[in-house]
Amino acid sequence: MSLERESSKDAPSVRVFFGDFRKMTSTEVANGEVSLIVTSPPYFNAPFDYPDLFPSYEDYLGLIRTFASQSRRVLRKGRICAIVTDDMLVKEGGGSRARKYPLVADTTRIFLDERFLYRDKITWVKPAGYTRISRRSGVVLQHPYPMYFYPDNIQESILLFQSGDFDYGLLRDAPKKILKSSKIDTVQLNKERWNLTVWNITNVLPIPGRVEEGIAAFPEEIPRRLIKLFTMYGETVFDPFAGSGTTLKVAVELGRKAIGYEIDLELKRVIRKKLGVENFVIEERGGARRLRKSLQTKIRQRRSVAKSPIPKLIL
Ligand SMILES: C[S@@+](CC[C@H](N)C(=O)[O-])C[C@H]1O[C@@H](n2cnc3c(N)ncnc32)[C@H](O)[C@@H]1O
Repeated sequence: MSLERESSKDAPSVRVFFGDFRKMTSTEVANGEVSLIVTSPPYFNAPFDYPDLFPSYEDYLGLIRTFASQSRRVLRKGRICAIVTDDMLVKEGGGSRARKYPLVADTTRIFLDERFLYRDKITWVKPAGYTRISRRSGVVLQHPYPMYFYPDNIQESILLFQSGDFDYGLLRDAPKKILKSSKIDTVQLNKERWNLTVWNITNVLPIPGRVEEGIAAFPEEIPRRLIKLFTMYGETVFDPFAGSGTTLKVAVELGRKAIGYEIDLELKRVIRKKLGVENFVIEERGGARRLRKSLQTKIRQRRSVAKSPIPKLIL
């Protein structure tokens, strides 16, 4: 185990553990330590992010079950676990056929089984011109007959689960200074339509060379809204699948403490760069591994096959 403390001036406001989240202990993240979880678990074997990462869908659901039980353990009573996820289209065998997996429904079921309350679902809509995986709607243009319709996907779900009832008396008793720093700007809320169940937010564009390259990062605007809406100034935000560290970065910018877990050691450099803060603790744990380079190589190989003269559509 290695520990790198980049500054010892103040208590660190960011802790990042590199390891397999399934092995997280209460010494790392204590029971009830966290006021909000904002995260996006890996998308089951997503062809352009995590090809064959999980041996089976059942194995993937095992990760989500552990995620639900650990979330229940670390969250304070009445607090929110916000999950950005989407159903996933995964190729079967080596062919052009694919099967759609209901990640949103299964994640919801698992969190309900863990006794979370289903608080809400927000649909995150990306710009209409954006279809990263495949343009399936082209099929009906080639074959304009019934049963050839496959829509292009430009949305993801933001699932909001609540860990029991929240005691609003805690807000009434909070120090005035903290309440003032945590006040939500309702002019901005109305202007940017945060009040709706649909949020139109531009995704992180896959531009080569950017710090989030190959990470399926979500835009900063998602954790920014959620952190303002569900935490007080100074509280702790946790991202168990930290990726490039988007949630951690925004949490620190908003004066919250941040904890992250990430399995891929190759993202240490990325998180450091993205956060750019001094006050930062990184710990390595069992299960941490180097992942990105091998996934990216696999994706490049698949893309070169897809560039064959006869376009292969994923249906
Ligand atoms: C969808 S990405 C998160 C991206 C992040 N929201 C961002 O904005 O950069 C999911 C992350 O979970 C990590 N991951 C997958 N399995 C994990 C595990 N068992 N424990 C911890 N992290 C894991 C992946 O390496 C990946 O970086």
